[in-house]
Amino acid sequence: MHRNSRWPGFYKLSIEERRQVAADSLGIGMSELSGALEGGLHSEKADKIIENVVGTFSLPFALALNVKVNGTDYIAPMVVEEPSVVAAASNAAKMIREGGGFQAEADPPVMIAQVQLDAVPDSATACEAVRRHQGELCALGDEQVPGLVRRGGGMRGLEARDLGEGMVVVHLFVDCRDAMGANLVNTVAEGVSPRIQELCGGEVGLRILSNLCDQRKVRVRARVPAAAIAGKGFEGAEVIDAVARASRFAERDPYRATTHNKGLMNGLDSVVIATGNDWRAVESGAHAYAARSGQYAPLCTWKKDGDALEGFLEMPLSLGTVGGPSRVHDGARMGLRIVSVESATELAMVAASVGMASNLAALRALATEGIQRGHMALHARSVAIAAGAEGDEVEKVASRIHAAGDINVATAQKVLVELRPAPPATAPPPAE
Ligand code: HMG
Repeated sequence: MHRNSRWPGFYKLSIEERRQVAADSLGIGMSELSGALEGGLHSEKADKIIENVVGTFSLPFALALNVKVNGTDYIAPMVVEEPSVVAAASNAAKMIREGGGFQAEADPPVMIAQVQLDAVPDSATACEAVRRHQGELCALGDEQVPGLVRRGGGMRGLEARDLGEGMVVVHLFVDCRDAMGANLVNTVAEGVSPRIQELCGGEVGLRILSNLCDQRKVRVRARVPAAAIAGKGFEGAEVIDAVARASRFAERDPYRATTHNKGLMNGLDSVVIATGNDWRAVESGAHAYAARSGQYAPLCTWKKDGDALEGFLEMPLSLGTVGGPSRVHDGARMGLRIVSVESATELAMVAASVGMASNLAALRALATEGIQRGHMALHARSVAIAAGAEGDEVEKVASRIHAAGDINVATAQKVLVELRPAPPATAPPPAE
């Protein structure tokens, strides 16, 4: 089905109207879509997923628009509690599509299983023995996961590393196809470790995946023309210079790089959660990769190139489209249906592109008018709700407190009192 992710003014519709637009455009039944997006999980099901369940916990589910990756339009599902993140991602994705959209590529979905060996008598000889037996160990690894091998995945190689102090670690590279892969690689590690011990001597320690999945990286490029990034009283060339300087700041300073990457993860994590993926795994891999040189660095950088702005993102990203919560969580299943990808690598490219868009939107705002105007305008709505506004009152209260530059619950409550008709005066009690 040919999709178009340009739905101008979508955000001005009611929830019901947005659902109708999404259902019609994505070819999903309205009742199915609505049913899946009211939390997505009942307590009885939740009780089968984790332990000691006493309920469930909902977050807003939204759609980021304007996302074009490698020439294809995607509607990106986002689950996030922070105002302005979805608007910002859609806003920057719109600018990036003016330059042709995101150009993304992803490595094959290869995860690393680590097998630790302690008290190895001769580490160099042990590493050499593992290398010489690579074919045998890979075949043994494949035997642990016959289903994965049938689907085209399985062992892709290995590496032995001498960590000193008699400690050797063997990395088993496992192509997990459309799974995130944690269970698969742990199975491989446990199945192969006895033979590794025979080859190396010493004692087997941990057998577990590494979340620093640097064999499974995604790379995204974007080129934003000056005309697309201009606005709010700033020329395109000025914004390009300002964003490039902001990016350079992050490259030179880990304090700034941390916040820069937080802005990127705003968008990326939201897609990861909306599709039922493990955001803690994604986060730990992302930040370890960002620190790989010894100095924590930005995952996405921006440079001026001619009269355009060029962005480049590279990071490890292990996402799945099968298994995990998507089996039981209606919202996650609907998230996957909405984004409509054919593989986990395609999902990684879309999620990383949304991350890149979030990063650009934040930098553009920070480097020009400042983050607060756009962010606070949208934050005003949550403040209005916290003050007790309901229905139409929410927008009315939000726009009044925003216009007054006084976005706090007390002011919102005062506005609410003014908006609401005064209760009818009660008659005084009869005189005795
Ligand atoms: P604007 O210029 O007022 O928007 O931006 P616009 O009216 O020109 O609309 C442009 C497009 O933005 C729209 O296209 C929508 O796609 C989208 P259209 O539909 O018209 O064709 N859009 C919206 N989508 C949903 N709801 C809305 C909405 N408004 C516009 N209400 C905007 C307003 C907030 C988008 C802009 O100011 C912006 O991008 N700001 C950045 C905000 C941001 O980055 N927030 C993230 C949280 S801040 C943070 O935690 C991270 C940080 O610390 C990271 C760092 O330091 O790097 C900042």
